[in-house]
Amino acid sequence: MRCYWKRAVTSGSLLFLCLFVYLCLRDEEPKILEKDRRLARELAMQQLYSERNGQSFRELLNLSSTINITYQYLAGFPVLRKKFLAVGLSSVRRKRGNYLQETLKSIFTQSTNEELLDMVVVVHLADFDLGWNTQVVLKITQKFAHHIISGRLIIIHAPEQYYPPLKGLKRNYNDEDDRVTFRSKQNVDYAFLMNLCANLSDYYLMLEDDVQCSHSFLSAIRKVLASKEGSYWVTLEFSKLGYIGKLYHGSDLPRLAHFLLMFYQEMPCDWLLNHFRGLLTQKDVIRFKPSLFQHIGYYSSFRGTENRLKDDDFEEDFFDIPDNPPAHIYTNLKVFENYNPTKAYSNSEEYFWGKSPSAGDYFTIVFTKTVNISRIQVVTGLVERQNDVLNAGILEIGKHQTVTLSGQDCSHYVQLGEFQKGRYDQKGLDTAAGNEVQCVRIRITKSQNDWLIIRTINIWSKHS
Ligand SMILES: *[C@@H]1O[C@H](CO)[C@@H](O)[C@H](O)[C@H]1NC(C)=O
Ligand SMILES: *[C@@H]1O[C@H](CO)[C@@H](O)[C@H](O)[C@H]1NC(C)=O
Ligand SMILES: *[C@@H]1O[C@H](CO)[C@@H](O)[C@H](O)[C@H]1NC(C)=O
Ligand SMILES: *[C@@H]1O[C@H](CO)[C@@H](O)[C@H](O)[C@H]1NC(C)=O
Repeated sequence: MRCYWKRAVTSGSLLFLCLFVYLCLRDEEPKILEKDRRLARELAMQQLYSERNGQSFRELLNLSSTINITYQYLAGFPVLRKKFLAVGLSSVRRKRGNYLQETLKSIFTQSTNEELLDMVVVVHLADFDLGWNTQVVLKITQKFAHHIISGRLIIIHAPEQYYPPLKGLKRNYNDEDDRVTFRSKQNVDYAFLMNLCANLSDYYLMLEDDVQCSHSFLSAIRKVLASKEGSYWVTLEFSKLGYIGKLYHGSDLPRLAHFLLMFYQEMPCDWLLNHFRGLLTQKDVIRFKPSLFQHIGYYSSFRGTENRLKDDDFEEDFFDIPDNPPAHIYTNLKVFENYNPTKAYSNSEEYFWGKSPSAGDYFTIVFTKTVNISRIQVVTGLVERQNDVLNAGILEIGKHQTVTLSGQDCSHYVQLGEFQKGRYDQKGLDTAAGNEVQCVRIRITKSQNDWLIIRTINIWSKHS
């Protein structure tokens, strides 16, 4: 894996790319690409005449059908019952180091039995060296036999005959031939893997074959999904790195698979994944902290060169992720630029920034449903902007929701505590204080010259 983030590619260049694909379509490519080739051509034409790229792209790529491939099941069997989460990883022989078994071990040992019931792990052994694949399958079946028998682990292979040409491809970005071949094949490896996973689960989690997982990552993902309920997203990111920890809707997989296959030789997989998100009109990255997945590979799968990329937001034992129940936010603070109030409440990296707070100003979270809360944490200021903390404020919880001129509010508030050094953190709220809450309010008690950054508001609800 290599870090490609810096070379941002604009959607303008994607339009170009579509055209380029269109112009470069060749007849000798195998049958499997025919449909995708036609789509690429239509897509290119559509993009030329349309200003609303995202919308037209969605309609064009409205593919619910999967790619017609006969897979080899090297171990395990097709899933009988649709699961909550499919975890997909693709693996090829590396020149140095092999972390696949460690990765599988981490997935299984970091999950509870209950979580495993709702999960299926699909490994695509994508090496064209069938002898190597067989050796790996033997090792895995010895070690993880019970997971295979219980239908939690499937190992597949897509035969070489289905692959588009991998030699003599375009050398975009001045990449060397073997790098182009490597990354192009990797795109197809993942396309075929996603294609198989299309119908297995509600959600699909993309991993690599050299990953360490944090404890109970499935439950952590579940909580985040609950907090995103009703909002539009294409990709949720649970790691900063490459193709690790990217979550998709199972229903998006057929078109994502077609998309990767369509543009397989154009650019590396992580760039394509970003384009896919953008084309489906999710503008910003939605990434969660802490990261749930970490890179363990020391040598990259390409040429065995050193690869020390690490995610410094990873926490192995971080299970206690806040779930921030769905809510509306109201504040009378003047918002600076686009640092909107909701940014303080989402579990992404963004934050709220308000101008010149005065005594009596408020920042109120009004829940859509009554919740029982066990913990509330609010962090203000930023390491880079330590002045913009809340100097004097209190945290209150409210009941009796009412409709007001500006939206909604609660008519009865009780003070829980005061901010200390710009922070508030109250764990173990008892039933009297924490149950049946409808609002949480931050109230400023003294005017301050510095502005106010609310970096995070975390709320843990109790589930019955
Ligand atoms: C995709 O196609 C299905 C049926 O062909 C249709 O019901 C659905 O509305 C389409 N979705 C979009 C986004 O066009
Ligand atoms: C899938 O491909 C096989 C041959 O590879 C063919 O017999 C079959 O009709 C195809 N199915 C569909 C739905 O296109
Ligand atoms: C997905 O599964 C459903 C029911 O299990 C089935 O009816 C449908 O044809 C499947 N779709 C694909 C693309 O395999
Ligand atoms: C919240 O606590 C009350 C008891 O105080 C209980 O009746 C209710 O079911 C709880 N709600 C949830 C969502 O857990």
